[in-house]
Amino acid sequence: MNREELFEYFPESWYPLCLSDEIGKNEVKTIKAFSSEIVCYRNQDGKAAIIKQYCPHMGTNLSNAKVTSKGLECPFHLRTFDTHGKCLGMYQHDKIPANAHTQSLSVVEKFGIIFVYFGNEPKFEFPKFSRLENQEEYRSSFVANYNLNTPYQSLLFNGFDTHHLGCIHSRVVSDNPIFKVENDYLLTAEYSMKVLPNTFYDKIVGLINTKENHVRLECWGGNFLIITLKDTKDNILITSLPISRNKSRIFLTSMSTPVGAIKGLFQSFRLKISTILGVEFLKPDIRIINDMKPEIRGLYNELDPGVVSFWQYWDKLPRNPDFQKSFLF
Ligand code: FES
Ligand SMILES: [Fe+2]
Repeated sequence: MNREELFEYFPESWYPLCLSDEIGKNEVKTIKAFSSEIVCYRNQDGKAAIIKQYCPHMGTNLSNAKVTSKGLECPFHLRTFDTHGKCLGMYQHDKIPANAHTQSLSVVEKFGIIFVYFGNEPKFEFPKFSRLENQEEYRSSFVANYNLNTPYQSLLFNGFDTHHLGCIHSRVVSDNPIFKVENDYLLTAEYSMKVLPNTFYDKIVGLINTKENHVRLECWGGNFLIITLKDTKDNILITSLPISRNKSRIFLTSMSTPVGAIKGLFQSFRLKISTILGVEFLKPDIRIINDMKPEIRGLYNELDPGVVSFWQYWDKLPRNPDFQKSFLF
């Protein structure tokens, strides 16, 4: 693929689509994503589903469909689709033809976010969070989210830009950060960093944690970044939805393994603080990258090894143009 096509076709990955509480039971919503629109609905049991926007029968826009006890009912000839896009019934007709079914995306709803896998079948599992003992049991904080006028990659490659940590974040980074492509979908970074207490929030961070911190970043599918610090119990997730080529929505939250009721109060407080500090940490980035147009020609290996690694990894991420064309257009 040439660079133009690389930007046109989104890598297969788990993407955050919206917040869980943006779609209520029996509700249908059109969401701008992947330079197109997709339809999300929540059935009467509370299960969220994402299906192709246009009905496979005659192309009615399913944004105008309604949720019934069976599923999503097309307003035109009343075909009903379950959460997997399977046609369950049609008006006054018992036999369901093979071409009556539609496409759906795999959904995982976690941490107050609805995630979808952009691809036919997930090629990799929903990423694991190393600080969670059991991936199904967690306590998470609120989700901070922002709309940005920049491609979704901007905030992600920013995580690998160790050069800027000194320039705008008052962090001193160790000499030898390690960047590693661990498999087709995963890029990691490991480095140590110390906080210089220059701002109010960094003074708070300095009070909580004065040591040199060992940071590990795991970026899945180019858009799903898990951050852990060696000495803390929480995972921080920063993840990004491509709305269009130059617009994105980012989500940030923190999670950890649940503890007992009394300790739980302290845990909730800690997770909230962790997200608030994460947001404070990102504020200067957000201001700067909000209208950024990512550029690779000026990268300099000696200063920008992480960003170079990110783009090399991102360029090679598996994409599925056939799936994308059939699902979105
Ligand atoms: S267009 Fe949807 S059922 Fe006919
Ligand atoms: Fe940053």
